[in-house]
Amino acid sequence: EQIEKGGYDHFMMKEIYEQPSAIMDTYRGRMLPNEGIIRMAGVDDNIERLANAKRIIVVACGTSWHAGLVSEYIFEDLARIPVEVEYASEFRYRNPVIYENDVVIAISQSGETADTMAAIKLAKEKGAFVFGVCNVVGSSISRETHAGAYTHAGPEIGVASTKAFTTQITVLTLIALKLAKYKGTISDSEFRFHLQELERIPAKISQVLEKNEQVKEIAFTYKDAPNCLYLGRGYNFPVALEGALKLKEISYIHAEGYPAAEMKHGPIALIDEQMPVVVIATNKGHYDKVVSNIQEIKSRSGKIIGIVTEGDEAVKELADYVIEVPETIESLTPLLTTIPLQLLSYHIAVMLGKNVDQPRNLAKSVTVE
Ligand code: G6P
Repeated sequence: EQIEKGGYDHFMMKEIYEQPSAIMDTYRGRMLPNEGIIRMAGVDDNIERLANAKRIIVVACGTSWHAGLVSEYIFEDLARIPVEVEYASEFRYRNPVIYENDVVIAISQSGETADTMAAIKLAKEKGAFVFGVCNVVGSSISRETHAGAYTHAGPEIGVASTKAFTTQITVLTLIALKLAKYKGTISDSEFRFHLQELERIPAKISQVLEKNEQVKEIAFTYKDAPNCLYLGRGYNFPVALEGALKLKEISYIHAEGYPAAEMKHGPIALIDEQMPVVVIATNKGHYDKVVSNIQEIKSRSGKIIGIVTEGDEAVKELADYVIEVPETIESLTPLLTTIPLQLLSYHIAVMLGKNVDQPRNLAKSVTVE
């Protein structure tokens, strides 16, 4: 097992550090930035069906559901297709309205999650086209769907999902870009620019991973907090949810993710000097508004950990700690901002002596209801 961990103390840490290469594996052979082409068999073979979708319904559970939420912003923004993101468990029991020209995208790392599988069967019965985004090759979900694209992240052993999440976002970005190009909702130059930026993401993730010691210091400061709040807006709202989920899963600290602007409708009541608030405040996407949220937290003595773009000044002045991530286009920021949140939860859980790779009560894949 030590050998399998490749010198890391836990699979989770190994998998966090694998993200640059995992993402390269996801786009290798599919994305040709110089030619301005994306090739994906499952999408190419069904391009009419996918591009003409009146609506995309994403079904997933857990971390995969969070990747689905990120994809809602990507598909709507780039390909102008309306998206609904559903917990598979709610969808399957709700008698949902599904039209024949709906496309259902099922996202699952394991490809074995029972609720996601049941949602797929229901969508197929109602005539929808079902596209799978799975990591495990040959898994039940990859076989049950009409078409699909693998994430190619390699085996993920840690129960808390890390590289599966970022590679799911990568695949979903490629699909959205392809549909956007086909539909003409994105210009050729924008398309190429997105591909070039995506190609730079692995190196930028490596730069974020270099902040590990700094994140460890922050983890030491807040490891005994009983609660933690995560805030983000737009593309980074789902990242806030995912950051909170990671902390809950492995450290058993109660954490909530919220859209930053919703803070005033409830969570602000919780803020006092005991409350660490992780705020994703990259320079793209409502930066000024997030800064004013940070001011509100500060004036109530909350502790602020800002995830900011390199060179940031405003948040740095207000926050107790900041972690910088390199600049990129807005739709790709989740691939960078997620990384310090994974590291933060990892270090807190290790410092608290928890079983990081196999947290209590959780399973890597939930094949029963
Ligand atoms: C379990 C795992 C999570 C995962 C979720 C969905 O709860 O512990 O890490 O996100 O199932 O799994 P899937 O394999 O369908 O992505």
